[in-house]
Amino acid sequence: MGKEILIPRDKILRRVKELADEISLDYTGKEPILVGILKGSVFFYADLVREIKIPVKLDFIRAFSYGAETCSSGSVKFTKTVELPVRDKDIIIVEDIVDTGLTLSKIREMLMDEGARSFRICALIDKPERRERAVSIDYCGFEVPEGFIVGYGLDYDEKYRNLPEIYLLK
Ligand code: IMP
Ligand code: MG
Repeated sequence: MGKEILIPRDKILRRVKELADEISLDYTGKEPILVGILKGSVFFYADLVREIKIPVKLDFIRAFSYGAETCSSGSVKFTKTVELPVRDKDIIIVEDIVDTGLTLSKIREMLMDEGARSFRICALIDKPERRERAVSIDYCGFEVPEGFIVGYGLDYDEKYRNLPEIYLLK
């Protein structure tokens, strides 16, 4: 399968810094919990949190919705959830891609049930083409209208995650 570069490294890092600045401003005086969704968001998460200038806490959820396919299996599984108490806390989810929206609508439901005070989403990529659940993305890196994306944490069948740039798979 071929691939072509879609978003180069310098453009990713510039945009990540802008998102971090927005978050730092919006959450001044608060101490949000940044919840990274494993594994796709690892590099985005690491770059983002290091640019945030306010105190934050870090936590992770491991969610699956894909196997070796490029389309959603329709069900979302969690093999790890947050470890910090979320009751009365401000939560910012850090996700790689919002595709159908199923993963994030499940996560939202779960954390709001646990008593989170607020819930916002920071996503590197919004792929609105196949959206099934309405999710509002509060901090969005890039919109990609269609196609399958790999690199910078994103995989196809667990491959390509380590590429430093974002590619379109052909
Ligand atoms: P959703 O529940 O359909 O929104 O699924 C989102 C998850 O599917 C993302 O967190 C990714 O792990 C995966 N995903 C969706 N689209 C892509 C893509 O273009 N490349 C790689 N992974 C993707
Ligand atoms: Mg993911």
